[in-house]
Amino acid sequence: MITLALVAPGHAPALQPLLEHPGVAEMTPLPHPYPPDGARDYVAGLIAAREAGTRRDWVILDGTGTPMGVVLIKDIDRTRQEGELGYWLGVPYWGRGHATAAARAAIALGFGELGLTSLVANTLPENGASVRVLTKLGFTPLREEPWVLPKWDAPRMGVVLRLMREQWAG
Ligand SMILES: CC(C)(COP(=O)(O)OP(=O)(O)OC[C@H]1O[C@@H](n2cnc3c(N)ncnc32)[C@H](O)[C@@H]1OP(=O)(O)O)[C@@H](O)C(=O)NCCC(=O)NCCS
Repeated sequence: MITLALVAPGHAPALQPLLEHPGVAEMTPLPHPYPPDGARDYVAGLIAAREAGTRRDWVILDGTGTPMGVVLIKDIDRTRQEGELGYWLGVPYWGRGHATAAARAAIALGFGELGLTSLVANTLPENGASVRVLTKLGFTPLREEPWVLPKWDAPRMGVVLRLMREQWAG
């Protein structure tokens, strides 16, 4: 059983040790080694972007209210009614269906409260768990696109998947 809560400054101390694990950074733009105060700055940035209307980030809470990770919709374009879904979970919480449940809840908010009609998601094809999460939720491949990140020596080829609101089964 998971719940989502809008990211708040008080979540940073619980997110910091989760973000320090190399497994979370390996296939995401998150840095590694993770800076000692990284989560505080990360959360502050997410809140600023939420206030600017360009993204919405939720912490994923377990049944006791402990933060396990973050699910998000970024690059929100109200005119085009589009956004990009993303998520990460702390390594101790992998493999229990939490990412699928959290993404499902975020999609419902994106297509509901945020009024979006289309969501994309970017992943690396070798990120088998993420591809599986997206496929389970009904996302289908749209195109390939290189990821260029300063932390990598060379670009890596990613895949963009898309889910339209009218295809969303809930
Ligand atoms: C990707 C991530 C969010 C998945 O979280 P999770 O809670 O373990 O995901 P779920 O348990 O909801 O679902 C994972 C699914 O992938 C499957 N899976 C796991 N590892 C896999 C692999 N290497 N190849 C294929 N499928 C895999 C699981 O069996 C499960 O499918 P099932 O329900 O049909 O059995 C988590 O591993 C993570 O945070 N990784 C680091 C950050 C990241 O990569 N974020 C996504 C960036 S695009």
